[in-house]
Amino acid sequence: MLRSHTCGELRPAHIGQEVTLCGWVQKTRDLGYILFLDLRDRYGITQVSIKSDEQADLYEKAQDVGREYVLEVKGKVVERESKNDKMPTGHIEIIPDSIRVLNEAKLPPFKIEDETDGGEELRMEYRYLDIRRPKVARNLMIRAKMMSAIRSYLDGQSFVEVETPFLIKSTPEGARDFIVPSRLHHGTFYALPQSPQILKQLLMVAGMDRYYQIVKCFRDEDFRGDRQPEFTQVDCEMSFVNQDDIFSMFEGMTKHVFKQVIGYDLPDFDRLRYADAMRLYGSDKPDRRFGAEIVELNEVLGGTDFSVFNSIIESDGLIAGIVCKGCAGYSRKQTDKLINWVKDPQIGGTGLVFIKYNEDGTYKSSVDKFYSEEHLARICAHAGAQPGDMILVVADKLKGKTRKVLGKLRLHMAQEEGWINKNDWSVFWVVDFPLFEEDEETGKLTFAHHPFCMPREGDVDYLESDPQRVIAQSYDLVMNGNEIVSGSIRIHDRKVQGKIFDILGLSEEEKEAKFGFMLRAFEYGAPPHGGCAFGLDRWAMLLAGENSIRDVIPFPKTAGGRDLMMDAPAGVAGEALTDLGIRLVEGKK
Ligand code: AMO
Repeated sequence: MLRSHTCGELRPAHIGQEVTLCGWVQKTRDLGYILFLDLRDRYGITQVSIKSDEQADLYEKAQDVGREYVLEVKGKVVERESKNDKMPTGHIEIIPDSIRVLNEAKLPPFKIEDETDGGEELRMEYRYLDIRRPKVARNLMIRAKMMSAIRSYLDGQSFVEVETPFLIKSTPEGARDFIVPSRLHHGTFYALPQSPQILKQLLMVAGMDRYYQIVKCFRDEDFRGDRQPEFTQVDCEMSFVNQDDIFSMFEGMTKHVFKQVIGYDLPDFDRLRYADAMRLYGSDKPDRRFGAEIVELNEVLGGTDFSVFNSIIESDGLIAGIVCKGCAGYSRKQTDKLINWVKDPQIGGTGLVFIKYNEDGTYKSSVDKFYSEEHLARICAHAGAQPGDMILVVADKLKGKTRKVLGKLRLHMAQEEGWINKNDWSVFWVVDFPLFEEDEETGKLTFAHHPFCMPREGDVDYLESDPQRVIAQSYDLVMNGNEIVSGSIRIHDRKVQGKIFDILGLSEEEKEAKFGFMLRAFEYGAPPHGGCAFGLDRWAMLLAGENSIRDVIPFPKTAGGRDLMMDAPAGVAGEALTDLGIRLVEGKK
């Protein structure tokens, strides 16, 4: 080793020792008679100090050293005169015997500090410099610690880590595939896995009974803060289990990782039915670190001359609201701002009515013309509002729309009002998802999760007569309003699987072409099985206290799907395309 210690390691106990440190120059401060040089590596920063009168040669050499130079410093650990309690190494410093420049460095394009002046694009272009920032390095270390804790837990439970191939045939997770052309078989393509779903099920047929893999998945989908085109799953599958067995195994794993990585003891996880999640929070991944649950108001808002609400009630729509604690003092400007926010096409609301229950016991609403004080009092009592609260009311002919808008409004208000305590954790299972849902654009039935989920016992009979009534044995784990895990008990009966494909409208040929190999495998003794997959990036984002998964991915893509550092995607040389039998056509870039 070139070094005897790291730059984060030395303490007063080391005083008097001769050490060798290697690292990057964070900064130098030349006071004329003394020069301080901060040496940094991923463990921390150690101060080196050189007096001009005592070490004239070294002093001169250090004056030529620039930021991010790579140095080897040999010297003695001494007690600092002016101590810095904010730094773990702040009570010592190094008096060097020698300073060797291992490599020079150009001036970095942004500050290598947590509070940097580099914008996102610049940092992504120079991601290797960005990772030198302590915050980013720490995130990668948290991620590594998580993977290690996951492996130790699952290895201890007799899981076998099996690698599945990346060059495969399309897997149905609902996104577009990234495809890879075949050179040996012109005109044919591999698909990169959206997940190892089918392969892990085949491993169950193969008798592997407890499988896991920390694995890259690829999905060509539109970008959002919590999505990347390539991301990592902790993919798991077990044979001879029911839903409760899966819950206890992976609740155990989740708690283990929380404890190991951030030292936090999670309480037992609740279960929330999908229908209740939608009814109370307008979302299948609600943030339950705060209340403001949705209250239905049809019953108390009808019977006046207010035609907007009357027509919604008549057409079996939904009027509902959330109680915003302590918000009765909102000014006209503030409520107008909220109304505009709700009407934004991204949110999808048509308007917002507010009812204030003032501290002095009076009531005020944006529809005072139609509602008497007494009526407003009844509404507030029904919604559980207290003096000082404001009810925000949304209405739509489509019940689901009212709920979704209120779900978003709930989160918006929590952010505006600071209802969320950043140190709280809310982790729970969402259960009883429907097996199918209607595609909003085409009106066709599609699978809500993927087509391999087992219907709830007793619901198989409705598969043909009333498919939308069928509840799946599928579940998600939600953490602070993020979907972290998804999974299900799978169908292991070839006939039931065939029926699901029929309901989804697959012809015999399509069934054979897409899933023939899987259906055949099910004819050879498929055991009952089930499993789930954790989104590692999202989970790491939460444990690291970050807001974007990009912050916990070593080399992420930008929101536009580009790798700015390597400049990918990029064109390829003509011969490479010819070898693949591909000719480009003019068209959409
Ligand atoms: P699903 O598609 O829900 O299920 O994915 C499982 C988990 O992976 C994470 N995730 C993503 N993370 C970042 N970027 C993305 N584009 C992205 N897409 C998904 C989420 C999600 O909960 N085969 C099934 C699992 C199973 O049934 O066992 C599957 O892939 O956290």
